Amino acid sequence: MNGKKGAFIVLEGIDGTGKSTLSRELADWMREMGREVVLTAEPTKDWLGLAVRRANEEGLDPLTESLLFTADRCEHTKQIVQWLDQGKMVICDRYFGSTVAYQGAALQESMGEEALPWLVLINSPVIRRPHITVLLTSDADLAMKRVGDRGALSKFERSDYLKRVQENYLMLVDRFDWRVVDSNGPLPEVFEQVKRAVQAYV
Ligand code: TYD
Repeated sequence: MNGKKGAFIVLEGIDGTGKSTLSRELADWMREMGREVVLTAEPTKDWLGLAVRRANEEGLDPLTESLLFTADRCEHTKQIVQWLDQGKMVICDRYFGSTVAYQGAALQESMGEEALPWLVLINSPVIRRPHITVLLTSDADLAMKRVGDRGALSKFERSDYLKRVQENYLMLVDRFDWRVVDSNGPLPEVFEQVKRAVQAYV
């Protein structure tokens, strides 16, 4: 224990909004401020996280994927709680909002309006409520161009799909009291806004 209180900070957003870069920059900034930081992400690199990636590659049912992402999160949350109890800052690149937004977009076809509430419901006993969630928004076509530079696209990275994912994310903002930061501008400006959103917890 370092005598300081931990805080759980989550970055969400469609692919190509700069979450990984921004979470690394946030971690560096917090370390400079003397905080102990754990930088983590979902899907995890544990076997449940690898199972999720495999389910995606093998084109399994979106219901199966939803349950796998949620199972991965269940075990991950236990680690997160331990880090918080140790007074650490935990920065998580994606959390339950990703399942609600992404699998919601896939399940809307078969489940319609029931999809999002069901995903929120199955996640509610699994999660620890973040102190703050920053949703990075972007023009879906621009985000696509950014991921396009990274090589082969997964089915989650198509522009029409990402547009629906972002709409789903936006539906969660008021309910879960998220901060929205537009990530279309230059990275240093976006970073300043993200810092402003989280600084009360550092
Ligand atoms: P991503 O953060 O892009 O991981 P990596 O950089 O290691 O590839 O996550 C992989 C994909 O998984 C991404 O397109 C979003 C998707 N995803 C979901 O569909 N649901 C979820 O619950 C999570 C955590 C991710």
